[in-house]
Amino acid sequence: MKVLVIGGGGREHAILKALAKSPKVDKLYCMKGNAGTAETAENVNVDFMNFDAVTEYVKAHPEIDYYVVTPDDPLAAGLVDVLEGLGKRCFGPEKKAAIIEGSKSFSKNLMKKYGIPTAASETFDDYDKALSYVRSIGAPVVLKADGLALGKGVLLCDTEKQAEEGLKEIMLDKAFGSAGNKVVVEEYMKGLKYTPGEEVSVLAFTDGKTIVPMITSCDHKRAYDGDKGLNTGGMGTFAPCPFWTPELQKEVMDTIMVPTMNAMNAEGRTFKGCLYFGLMRTNKGMKVVEYNARFGDPETQVVLPMLKTDLLEIFEAVTDGRLADVKIEWDDGACVCVVLASGGYPISYAKGKPITIGDTEGVDIVHAGTAMKDGKLVTNGGRVLNVVAKGRDIEEARAKAYKAIENIAWDNMQYRKDIGIKYRDG
Ligand code: AMP
Ligand code: GLY
Repeated sequence: MKVLVIGGGGREHAILKALAKSPKVDKLYCMKGNAGTAETAENVNVDFMNFDAVTEYVKAHPEIDYYVVTPDDPLAAGLVDVLEGLGKRCFGPEKKAAIIEGSKSFSKNLMKKYGIPTAASETFDDYDKALSYVRSIGAPVVLKADGLALGKGVLLCDTEKQAEEGLKEIMLDKAFGSAGNKVVVEEYMKGLKYTPGEEVSVLAFTDGKTIVPMITSCDHKRAYDGDKGLNTGGMGTFAPCPFWTPELQKEVMDTIMVPTMNAMNAEGRTFKGCLYFGLMRTNKGMKVVEYNARFGDPETQVVLPMLKTDLLEIFEAVTDGRLADVKIEWDDGACVCVVLASGGYPISYAKGKPITIGDTEGVDIVHAGTAMKDGKLVTNGGRVLNVVAKGRDIEEARAKAYKAIENIAWDNMQYRKDIGIKYRDG
Protein backbone atom coordinates (compact mmCIF):
# COMPACT_ATOMS: atom_id res chain seq x y z
CA MET A 1 0.00 0.00 0.00
CA LYS A 2 0.97 3.59 -0.57
CA VAL A 3 0.25 5.68 2.52
CA LEU A 4 0.39 9.46 2.95
CA VAL A 5 0.76 11.02 6.40
CA ILE A 6 -0.35 14.63 6.80
CA GLY A 7 1.74 16.75 9.20
CA GLY A 8 5.39 17.42 9.61
CA GLY A 9 6.55 17.16 13.21
CA GLY A 10 8.12 14.58 15.47
CA ARG A 11 4.81 12.80 15.89
CA GLU A 12 4.45 12.30 12.14
CA HIS A 13 8.04 11.12 11.81
CA ALA A 14 7.38 8.59 14.59
CA ILE A 15 4.20 7.40 12.86
CA LEU A 16 6.07 7.05 9.55
CA LYS A 17 8.82 5.04 11.25
CA ALA A 18 6.19 2.70 12.72
CA LEU A 19 4.36 2.37 9.40
CA ALA A 20 7.66 1.64 7.63
CA LYS A 21 7.86 -1.60 9.65
CA SER A 22 4.61 -2.87 8.13
CA PRO A 23 5.11 -5.51 5.42
CA LYS A 24 1.97 -4.10 3.77
CA VAL A 25 3.56 -0.70 3.10
CA ASP A 26 5.43 -0.27 -0.14
CA LYS A 27 5.68 3.52 -0.20
CA LEU A 28 5.23 6.33 2.31
CA TYR A 29 4.60 10.03 1.70
CA CYS A 30 4.58 12.98 4.10
CA MET A 31 2.76 16.27 3.51
CA LYS A 32 4.76 18.51 4.12
CA GLY A 33 7.33 16.78 6.31
CA ASN A 34 10.79 17.70 7.54
CA ALA A 35 14.38 16.61 6.92
CA GLY A 36 13.81 13.36 8.84
CA THR A 37 10.56 12.35 7.17
CA ALA A 38 12.34 12.82 3.86
CA GLU A 39 14.45 9.77 4.79
CA THR A 40 11.46 7.60 5.72
CA ALA A 41 9.03 8.91 3.12
CA GLU A 42 8.70 11.13 0.08
CA ASN A 43 7.94 14.66 1.24
CA VAL A 44 5.07 16.35 -0.57
CA ASN A 45 5.32 20.11 -0.62
CA VAL A 46 1.63 20.99 -0.38
CA ASP A 47 0.14 23.22 2.34
CA PHE A 48 -2.29 20.84 4.07
CA MET A 49 -4.42 23.71 5.36
CA ASN A 50 -5.16 24.69 1.77
CA PHE A 51 -7.89 22.10 1.09
CA ASP A 52 -8.16 23.06 -2.60
CA ALA A 53 -4.46 22.33 -3.04
CA VAL A 54 -4.82 19.05 -1.13
CA THR A 55 -7.81 18.07 -3.29
CA GLU A 56 -5.86 18.78 -6.44
CA TYR A 57 -2.95 16.66 -5.20
CA VAL A 58 -5.20 13.77 -4.16
CA LYS A 59 -6.99 13.72 -7.53
CA ALA A 60 -3.65 13.73 -9.33
CA HIS A 61 -2.37 10.77 -7.23
CA PRO A 62 -4.89 7.92 -7.42
CA GLU A 63 -2.05 5.51 -6.60
CA ILE A 64 -2.15 6.57 -2.91
CA ASP A 65 -4.32 4.06 -1.05
CA TYR A 66 -4.57 5.49 2.43
CA TYR A 67 -4.28 8.82 4.26
CA VAL A 68 -3.41 9.53 7.91
CA VAL A 69 -4.31 12.98 9.29
CA THR A 70 -2.63 13.79 12.61
CA PRO A 71 -2.31 17.55 13.42
CA ASP A 72 -5.14 19.31 15.27
CA ASP A 73 -5.69 22.16 12.79
CA PRO A 74 -6.58 20.14 9.66
CA LEU A 75 -8.68 17.74 11.77
CA ALA A 76 -10.65 20.61 13.33
CA ALA A 77 -11.11 22.19 9.89
CA GLY A 78 -12.46 18.94 8.39
CA LEU A 79 -9.68 17.54 6.22
CA VAL A 80 -10.84 13.97 6.89
CA ASP A 81 -14.30 14.90 5.56
CA VAL A 82 -12.67 16.33 2.42
CA LEU A 83 -10.62 13.16 1.85
CA GLU A 84 -13.63 10.90 2.47
CA GLY A 85 -15.62 13.06 0.06
CA LEU A 86 -13.00 12.22 -2.54
CA GLY A 87 -13.62 8.53 -1.85
CA LYS A 88 -10.35 8.03 0.03
CA ARG A 89 -9.81 5.76 3.03
CA CYS A 90 -8.22 7.53 5.94
CA PHE A 91 -7.33 7.49 9.62
CA GLY A 92 -8.54 10.39 11.74
CA PRO A 93 -11.83 11.77 13.07
CA GLU A 94 -14.28 13.75 10.96
CA LYS A 95 -14.78 17.42 11.75
CA LYS A 96 -17.89 16.84 13.86
CA ALA A 97 -15.89 14.48 16.12
CA ALA A 98 -12.63 16.48 16.15
CA ILE A 99 -14.54 19.22 18.00
CA ILE A 100 -13.79 17.23 21.17
CA GLU A 101 -10.35 18.87 21.03
CA GLY A 102 -11.11 22.05 19.08
CA SER A 103 -13.56 23.43 21.62
CA LYS A 104 -12.92 23.15 25.34
CA SER A 105 -16.48 24.34 26.05
CA PHE A 106 -17.81 21.47 23.90
CA SER A 107 -15.72 18.89 25.76
CA LYS A 108 -16.54 20.30 29.19
CA ASN A 109 -20.26 20.27 28.38
CA LEU A 110 -19.98 16.71 27.03
CA MET A 111 -18.38 15.55 30.28
CA LYS A 112 -20.99 17.36 32.36
CA LYS A 113 -23.88 15.92 30.36
CA TYR A 114 -22.62 12.33 30.48
CA GLY A 115 -21.16 12.34 34.00
CA ILE A 116 -17.55 11.86 32.93
CA PRO A 117 -15.23 12.93 35.79
CA THR A 118 -13.44 16.25 35.22
CA ALA A 119 -12.74 19.50 37.09
CA ALA A 120 -15.86 21.56 37.82
CA SER A 121 -16.05 24.50 35.43
CA GLU A 122 -18.04 27.38 33.95
CA THR A 123 -17.66 28.86 30.47
CA PHE A 124 -18.00 32.58 29.70
CA ASP A 125 -17.97 34.70 26.56
CA ASP A 126 -18.47 37.90 28.56
CA TYR A 127 -15.49 39.40 30.36
CA ASP A 128 -17.46 41.09 33.15
CA LYS A 129 -19.40 37.93 33.97
CA ALA A 130 -16.19 35.89 33.95
CA LEU A 131 -14.53 38.42 36.24
CA SER A 132 -17.32 38.43 38.80
CA TYR A 133 -17.38 34.60 38.76
CA VAL A 134 -13.61 34.44 39.32
CA ARG A 135 -13.98 36.96 42.18
CA SER A 136 -16.77 34.86 43.70
CA ILE A 137 -14.82 31.58 43.76
CA GLY A 138 -11.34 33.04 44.39
CA ALA A 139 -7.96 31.34 43.95
CA PRO A 140 -6.45 28.91 43.20
CA VAL A 141 -8.23 28.62 39.89
CA VAL A 142 -7.45 27.56 36.31
CA LEU A 143 -8.28 29.68 33.23
CA LYS A 144 -8.40 28.24 29.72
CA ALA A 145 -8.80 29.97 26.38
CA ASP A 146 -11.57 28.04 24.63
CA GLY A 147 -10.14 27.46 21.14
CA LEU A 148 -6.97 25.83 19.92
CA ALA A 149 -3.94 27.60 21.39
CA LEU A 150 -1.23 24.96 20.84
CA GLY A 151 -1.55 23.81 24.43
CA LYS A 152 -0.48 27.24 25.64
CA GLY A 153 -3.83 28.84 26.45
CA VAL A 154 -4.00 27.51 30.03
CA LEU A 155 -3.20 29.62 33.07
CA LEU A 156 -2.82 28.08 36.54
CA CYS A 157 -3.53 30.93 38.92
CA ASP A 158 -2.41 30.61 42.53
CA THR A 159 -3.72 34.02 43.55
CA GLU A 160 -6.83 36.02 42.73
CA LYS A 161 -4.65 38.81 41.36
CA GLN A 162 -3.07 36.38 38.86
CA ALA A 163 -6.54 35.20 37.91
CA GLU A 164 -7.76 38.73 37.21
CA GLU A 165 -4.67 39.53 35.15
CA GLY A 166 -4.98 36.24 33.27
CA LEU A 167 -8.60 36.86 32.44
CA LYS A 168 -7.71 40.26 31.00
CA GLU A 169 -4.85 38.71 29.02
CA ILE A 170 -7.07 36.03 27.48
CA MET A 171 -10.33 37.94 26.93
CA LEU A 172 -9.35 41.59 26.45
CA ASP A 173 -5.72 41.58 25.25
CA LYS A 174 -6.42 38.41 23.18
CA ALA A 175 -3.01 36.93 24.03
CA PHE A 176 -4.15 33.69 22.39
CA GLY A 177 -6.04 35.35 19.55
CA SER A 178 -9.65 34.40 18.89
CA ALA A 179 -9.17 31.29 21.10
CA GLY A 180 -9.83 33.78 23.91
CA ASN A 181 -13.33 34.79 22.80
CA LYS A 182 -14.57 32.28 25.35
CA VAL A 183 -12.89 31.34 28.58
CA VAL A 184 -13.32 28.24 30.72
CA VAL A 185 -12.88 28.87 34.46
CA GLU A 186 -11.98 25.62 36.19
CA GLU A 187 -11.48 24.08 39.62
CA TYR A 188 -7.75 23.67 40.37
CA MET A 189 -7.28 19.89 40.85
CA LYS A 190 -4.95 18.47 43.50
CA GLY A 191 -3.34 15.04 43.26
CA LEU A 192 -2.58 12.29 45.72
CA LYS A 193 1.00 13.53 46.06
CA TYR A 194 1.35 16.80 44.14
CA THR A 195 -0.46 20.03 43.17
CA PRO A 196 -1.53 20.13 40.38
CA GLY A 197 -2.28 16.41 40.41
CA GLU A 198 -0.24 13.65 38.78
CA GLU A 199 -0.73 13.54 35.01
CA VAL A 200 -0.82 10.69 32.53
CA SER A 201 -1.57 10.62 28.82
CA VAL A 202 -3.54 7.68 27.51
CA LEU A 203 -3.89 7.46 23.76
CA ALA A 204 -6.55 5.07 22.52
CA PHE A 205 -7.52 3.58 19.20
CA THR A 206 -11.26 3.64 18.62
CA ASP A 207 -13.58 2.85 15.74
CA GLY A 208 -16.64 4.07 17.66
CA LYS A 209 -17.58 0.54 18.77
CA THR A 210 -14.42 -0.60 20.52
CA ILE A 211 -11.84 1.49 22.37
CA VAL A 212 -8.36 0.13 23.06
CA PRO A 213 -5.97 2.10 25.26
CA MET A 214 -2.32 2.15 24.23
CA ILE A 215 0.59 1.93 26.66
CA THR A 216 0.46 4.95 29.03
CA SER A 217 2.94 7.84 28.94
CA CYS A 218 3.86 11.02 30.81
CA ASP A 219 4.58 14.36 29.16
CA HIS A 220 6.58 17.33 30.47
CA LYS A 221 4.75 20.46 29.37
CA ARG A 222 6.82 23.18 31.02
CA ALA A 223 9.90 24.56 29.28
CA TYR A 224 12.46 24.08 32.06
CA ASP A 225 13.63 21.53 34.64
CA GLY A 226 11.47 21.09 37.72
CA ASP A 227 8.36 22.10 35.74
CA LYS A 228 9.43 25.74 35.61
CA GLY A 229 8.80 28.16 32.75
CA LEU A 230 5.99 28.41 30.25
CA ASN A 231 3.80 25.62 28.95
CA THR A 232 5.13 24.21 25.68
CA GLY A 233 3.95 21.62 23.19
CA GLY A 234 5.86 19.07 25.31
CA MET A 235 9.56 18.83 26.23
CA GLY A 236 9.86 15.09 26.69
CA THR A 237 7.96 11.93 27.51
CA PHE A 238 8.38 8.48 28.94
CA ALA A 239 6.34 5.29 28.87
CA PRO A 240 4.84 3.56 30.74
CA CYS A 241 3.49 5.82 33.50
CA PRO A 242 5.01 4.66 36.83
CA PHE A 243 1.81 5.03 38.86
CA TRP A 244 -0.39 3.17 36.36
CA THR A 245 -1.97 -0.04 37.64
CA PRO A 246 -4.51 -2.53 36.26
CA GLU A 247 -6.98 -1.08 38.79
CA LEU A 248 -6.51 2.45 37.43
CA GLN A 249 -6.86 1.10 33.89
CA LYS A 250 -10.18 -0.47 34.83
CA GLU A 251 -11.40 2.69 36.57
CA VAL A 252 -10.46 4.79 33.54
CA MET A 253 -12.00 2.36 31.03
CA ASP A 254 -15.27 2.16 32.99
CA THR A 255 -15.68 5.80 34.02
CA ILE A 256 -13.91 7.73 31.24
CA MET A 257 -12.98 5.91 28.03
CA VAL A 258 -16.06 3.84 27.25
CA PRO A 259 -18.42 6.62 28.46
CA THR A 260 -16.63 9.13 26.20
CA MET A 261 -16.93 6.87 23.15
CA ASN A 262 -20.61 6.28 23.92
CA ALA A 263 -21.24 9.98 24.55
CA MET A 264 -19.80 10.91 21.16
CA ASN A 265 -22.00 8.26 19.51
CA ALA A 266 -25.07 9.56 21.36
CA GLU A 267 -24.28 13.08 20.12
CA GLY A 268 -24.12 11.83 16.53
CA ARG A 269 -20.39 12.55 16.51
CA THR A 270 -18.87 9.06 16.35
CA PHE A 271 -15.12 9.34 16.90
CA LYS A 272 -12.88 7.16 14.75
CA GLY A 273 -9.13 7.51 15.08
CA CYS A 274 -6.79 8.14 17.99
CA LEU A 275 -8.50 9.70 20.98
CA TYR A 276 -6.09 11.20 23.48
CA PHE A 277 -7.09 11.32 27.14
CA GLY A 278 -5.06 13.79 29.20
CA LEU A 279 -5.83 12.49 32.69
CA MET A 280 -5.03 13.53 36.22
CA ARG A 281 -4.86 11.35 39.32
CA THR A 282 -6.60 13.55 41.86
CA ASN A 283 -7.57 13.22 45.48
CA LYS A 284 -11.07 12.50 44.11
CA GLY A 285 -10.14 9.81 41.57
CA MET A 286 -9.06 9.87 37.93
CA LYS A 287 -10.30 12.90 35.99
CA VAL A 288 -10.05 14.23 32.46
CA VAL A 289 -7.88 17.33 32.01
CA GLU A 290 -8.30 17.46 28.25
CA TYR A 291 -9.13 15.44 25.17
CA ASN A 292 -7.18 15.60 21.96
CA ALA A 293 -8.55 14.30 18.69
CA ARG A 294 -5.16 12.95 17.63
CA PHE A 295 -1.92 11.32 18.68
CA GLY A 296 0.03 13.36 21.25
CA ASP A 297 3.35 14.96 20.46
CA PRO A 298 5.78 13.88 21.97
CA GLU A 299 3.75 10.98 23.49
CA THR A 300 3.64 9.19 20.14
CA GLN A 301 7.43 9.12 20.07
CA VAL A 302 7.51 6.83 23.16
CA VAL A 303 4.28 4.89 22.59
CA LEU A 304 4.73 3.64 19.04
CA PRO A 305 8.24 2.19 19.54
CA MET A 306 6.63 -0.11 22.15
CA LEU A 307 3.93 -1.35 19.76
CA LYS A 308 4.46 -4.91 18.54
CA THR A 309 1.38 -5.06 16.30
CA ASP A 310 1.41 -3.75 12.72
CA LEU A 311 0.27 -0.09 12.95
CA LEU A 312 -1.23 -0.06 9.45
CA GLU A 313 -3.31 -3.12 10.32
CA ILE A 314 -4.71 -1.25 13.34
CA PHE A 315 -5.37 1.92 11.30
CA GLU A 316 -7.26 0.00 8.65
CA ALA A 317 -9.28 -1.87 11.27
CA VAL A 318 -10.32 1.50 12.74
CA THR A 319 -11.33 2.78 9.32
CA ASP A 320 -13.32 -0.37 8.56
CA GLY A 321 -14.95 -0.61 12.00
CA ARG A 322 -13.42 -3.96 12.94
CA LEU A 323 -11.01 -2.93 15.70
CA ALA A 324 -12.47 -5.62 17.99
CA ASP A 325 -10.86 -8.26 15.75
CA VAL A 326 -7.28 -6.99 16.15
CA LYS A 327 -5.06 -8.15 18.99
CA ILE A 328 -2.87 -5.20 19.99
CA GLU A 329 0.36 -6.07 21.78
CA TRP A 330 3.06 -4.03 23.54
CA ASP A 331 6.71 -4.54 24.46
CA ASP A 332 7.77 -4.90 28.08
CA GLY A 333 10.29 -2.35 29.29
CA ALA A 334 10.26 1.39 28.83
CA CYS A 335 10.90 4.21 26.39
CA VAL A 336 12.10 7.79 26.95
CA CYS A 337 12.00 10.76 24.57
CA VAL A 338 13.95 13.97 25.21
CA VAL A 339 13.01 16.96 23.08
CA LEU A 340 15.90 19.10 21.88
CA ALA A 341 14.58 22.62 21.32
CA SER A 342 15.82 25.93 20.00
CA GLY A 343 17.03 28.33 22.72
CA GLY A 344 14.19 30.72 23.57
CA TYR A 345 11.40 28.25 22.76
CA PRO A 346 8.43 28.58 23.32
CA ILE A 347 8.61 32.38 22.90
CA SER A 348 11.08 33.38 20.20
CA TYR A 349 13.95 31.49 18.69
CA ALA A 350 16.26 31.44 15.70
CA LYS A 351 15.94 29.06 12.77
CA GLY A 352 18.50 27.83 10.26
CA LYS A 353 21.20 26.83 12.79
CA PRO A 354 23.41 23.98 11.48
CA ILE A 355 22.98 20.76 13.51
CA THR A 356 25.78 18.27 14.15
CA ILE A 357 24.92 14.70 15.08
CA GLY A 358 27.77 12.41 16.15
CA ASP A 359 27.57 8.91 17.61
CA THR A 360 23.98 8.20 18.62
CA GLU A 361 24.08 4.44 18.51
CA GLY A 362 21.37 2.71 20.46
CA VAL A 363 18.87 5.57 20.21
CA ASP A 364 16.46 6.67 17.53
CA ILE A 365 16.52 10.26 16.27
CA VAL A 366 13.08 11.55 15.38
CA HIS A 367 12.92 14.87 13.56
CA ALA A 368 10.49 17.67 14.44
CA GLY A 369 11.54 21.16 13.24
CA THR A 370 14.39 20.34 10.87
CA ALA A 371 15.16 21.17 7.24
CA MET A 372 17.97 20.73 4.74
CA LYS A 373 19.74 23.90 3.60
CA ASP A 374 22.57 23.72 1.05
CA GLY A 375 22.90 20.00 1.80
CA LYS A 376 23.19 20.57 5.56
CA LEU A 377 20.79 19.70 8.36
CA VAL A 378 19.51 22.88 10.06
CA THR A 379 17.00 23.83 12.75
CA ASN A 380 13.61 24.90 11.45
CA GLY A 381 11.33 25.25 14.47
CA GLY A 382 10.98 25.43 18.25
CA ARG A 383 11.11 21.72 18.94
CA VAL A 384 13.86 20.41 16.66
CA LEU A 385 14.86 16.81 17.42
CA ASN A 386 13.54 14.03 19.63
CA VAL A 387 16.03 11.58 21.07
CA VAL A 388 14.18 8.31 21.71
CA ALA A 389 15.67 5.41 23.68
CA LYS A 390 14.26 2.10 24.82
CA GLY A 391 15.44 0.16 27.87
CA ARG A 392 14.50 -2.51 30.35
CA ASP A 393 13.21 0.29 32.56
CA ILE A 394 12.89 4.08 32.44
CA GLU A 395 16.26 4.56 34.16
CA GLU A 396 18.11 2.58 31.50
CA ALA A 397 16.26 4.29 28.65
CA ARG A 398 16.87 7.70 30.18
CA ALA A 399 20.61 7.07 30.57
CA LYS A 400 20.89 6.03 26.90
CA ALA A 401 19.01 9.10 25.69
CA TYR A 402 21.11 11.58 27.66
CA LYS A 403 24.36 9.88 26.65
CA ALA A 404 23.46 10.26 22.96
CA ILE A 405 22.54 13.92 23.48
CA GLU A 406 26.16 14.63 24.42
CA ASN A 407 26.94 14.05 20.75
CA ILE A 408 24.27 16.34 19.30
CA ALA A 409 24.73 20.10 19.12
CA TRP A 410 23.77 23.39 17.57
CA ASP A 411 24.09 26.98 18.58
CA ASN A 412 21.81 27.63 21.57
CA MET A 413 20.30 24.12 21.87
CA GLN A 414 18.00 23.78 24.91
CA TYR A 415 16.53 20.72 26.62
CA ARG A 416 15.30 19.45 29.95
CA LYS A 417 17.71 17.30 31.98
CA ASP A 418 14.99 15.77 34.14
CA ILE A 419 12.88 13.78 31.69
CA GLY A 420 11.95 10.40 33.16
CA ILE A 421 12.40 11.30 36.81
CA LYS A 422 8.94 12.32 37.95
CA TYR A 423 6.50 9.94 39.64
CA ARG A 424 9.40 7.56 40.33
CA ASP A 425 7.90 6.72 43.69
CA GLY A 426 4.56 5.88 42.05
P1 AMP B 1 -4.41 21.55 29.17
O1 AMP B 1 -3.92 22.35 28.00
O2 AMP B 1 -5.87 21.64 29.40
O3 AMP B 1 -3.89 20.15 29.13
O4 AMP B 1 -3.70 22.16 30.47
C1 AMP B 1 -2.31 22.31 30.54
C2 AMP B 1 -1.80 21.87 31.90
O5 AMP B 1 -2.35 22.65 32.93
C3 AMP B 1 -2.19 20.46 32.24
O6 AMP B 1 -1.31 19.54 31.71
C4 AMP B 1 -2.14 20.48 33.76
O7 AMP B 1 -0.81 20.38 34.21
C5 AMP B 1 -2.62 21.85 34.07
N1 AMP B 1 -4.06 21.88 34.35
C6 AMP B 1 -5.05 22.03 33.44
N2 AMP B 1 -6.27 22.03 34.04
C7 AMP B 1 -6.05 21.87 35.35
C8 AMP B 1 -6.91 21.84 36.50
N3 AMP B 1 -8.24 21.99 36.41
N4 AMP B 1 -6.34 21.67 37.71
C9 AMP B 1 -4.99 21.57 37.83
N5 AMP B 1 -4.13 21.62 36.79
C10 AMP B 1 -4.65 21.78 35.57
N1 GLY C 1 1.86 16.46 24.30
C1 GLY C 1 0.58 17.05 24.39
C2 GLY C 1 -0.16 17.14 23.13
O1 GLY C 1 0.13 16.51 22.14
O2 GLY C 1 -1.13 17.89 23.10
